[in-house]
Amino acid sequence: MELTKEQENLLNEGSHGEKKAMELLIALGRVYDASDLIPVTSTHISGASYKTIGDPGMEFLSDISQGCRTKVRSTVNPIGMDRKRYDEMRVREEFAAKQNDIIRLYENLGVENSWTCTPYLIGNRPGVGEHVSWAESSAVVFANSVLGARTNREGGPSALASSITGFTPNYGLHKEENRRGDVLFELEFEVSEGDFASLGYFAGKICGDRIPYFRRLSATEDDLKSMSASLASSGSVSMFHVEGLTPDGSLGLKEGYEKVQVERKDLEDVENEWNTSEEPDLVAIGCPHCSAGELKKLAGMLKKGWNGPELWACTSEAVSKQVPEAVEIINEHGKVLCDTCVVVSSVEDFSEAIATNSGKASTYLPSLCKQRIMFSDMETLVRRFR
Ligand code: F3S
Repeated sequence: MELTKEQENLLNEGSHGEKKAMELLIALGRVYDASDLIPVTSTHISGASYKTIGDPGMEFLSDISQGCRTKVRSTVNPIGMDRKRYDEMRVREEFAAKQNDIIRLYENLGVENSWTCTPYLIGNRPGVGEHVSWAESSAVVFANSVLGARTNREGGPSALASSITGFTPNYGLHKEENRRGDVLFELEFEVSEGDFASLGYFAGKICGDRIPYFRRLSATEDDLKSMSASLASSGSVSMFHVEGLTPDGSLGLKEGYEKVQVERKDLEDVENEWNTSEEPDLVAIGCPHCSAGELKKLAGMLKKGWNGPELWACTSEAVSKQVPEAVEIINEHGKVLCDTCVVVSSVEDFSEAIATNSGKASTYLPSLCKQRIMFSDMETLVRRFR
């Protein structure tokens, strides 16, 4: 792999962390036969909850951070607790202490105080054609597909290494020729807001690591946020196209593409697969993190009251500050939890079943948090417990 003078200097004469980060990126580039390392304009790092990275992750972070500051704008995924309300989340003191150590490590490195899986809602929003290095699979899919930015599906360590060096290996979705659709999905029914989670899961399962291309689909940005997360949870999808809507949709389909007709029953089958509980201990909204519009919508529905189990709405602190009135209303009936999410929290300490409108949470909560699931769109969930 060809290195520039600047890259050689980082590798041979950089700080301990810069050398390690360069070694990691070069090794990754060799695996994927990358031609060179290209500059990135931002990174998004995953692996911030003590629950997901544990002590080994903290040691890695501490080691690679030595002598380093981030070279590009860098945001980071949710942590395992709301820093102000962690006692209300029943977080144990030992967990909270470790979590605070992780926060300090990222802060010392210069990573933004962001703690969200929707960095594009708080200003880390790359434009069409911008090369970035993002981890967090739902954000990767959104960045490539909805924003038209270019990133591979990085892991936490490689996104962190890009943050320290400002570079990423040039292969995969950084190259335009790899960004065309592989599987055409034609929908034979009108899709509504609640369908995007199950549609993403259905398509992701068929695609694996290939690129789905949707025809006859109209969607809002919140719909596409939901679908991005589901696509990445049932498969290892890194981007999708919606004809006439997403920036790279005009690249079209690859020769010999596969064609799939989607029927309403396909989505019903997905929801039946998820649904394993009728009596949730908790209702969790905000996977991926709620947008300001979703918080307002939830608050509007809650004005008619709430008689259900404990309600969590997860978002970033930055987004919560955009809609203080909505946050106040939700807090009267439940909890707006900032900078954390139900999956990376220690929810299994007190809950056995969760109701959610998220396809990603419905997929991961059973295995990662030992939960049974009640899946439904937000409106149906709120109406059910009013
Ligand atoms: Fe975000 Fe947590 Fe869901 S990181 S996508 S809210 S599992």
